[in-house]
Amino acid sequence: MERREFIKNTAAFCGVISLLSLEGCTTYHAVSGEFENGKLKIKKADFLQNNWILVRSERVSAPLCLSKNEKEKYTAVLMECTHKQCEVRPAGTIIVCPCHGSEFSFTGKVLKEPADKDLQMYQTSSDENNVYIHI
Ligand code: FES
Repeated sequence: MERREFIKNTAAFCGVISLLSLEGCTTYHAVSGEFENGKLKIKKADFLQNNWILVRSERVSAPLCLSKNEKEKYTAVLMECTHKQCEVRPAGTIIVCPCHGSEFSFTGKVLKEPADKDLQMYQTSSDENNVYIHI
């Protein structure tokens, strides 16, 4: 391989690695709610730029994705794939499983197999300042 071709190929490879690294560096806003009357309380102020946040709790096996729609209705889904229990991740407007490629909506509905069951959902309620996840 000539020097010029080597440099060109190396630069292309580094570009791909950089893009992959950027994808991996996506930051998520994660909070740990506090329990109040048996419900996990999340402050509405914790919703910063996204319409969703990840909520961690020792009471569930994976983070919860708490999302709100344009009508201020909140949905909480367990971020555990129903195919083989890998932890799923938000990716743009959907939730994806890194293990075998299943895709879900933010309301937990299966969009793409191999998963054939929706993500586990939890009931929510809210008041002026907080959202409550009924775990
Ligand atoms: S564990 Fe998620 S698609 Fe297989």
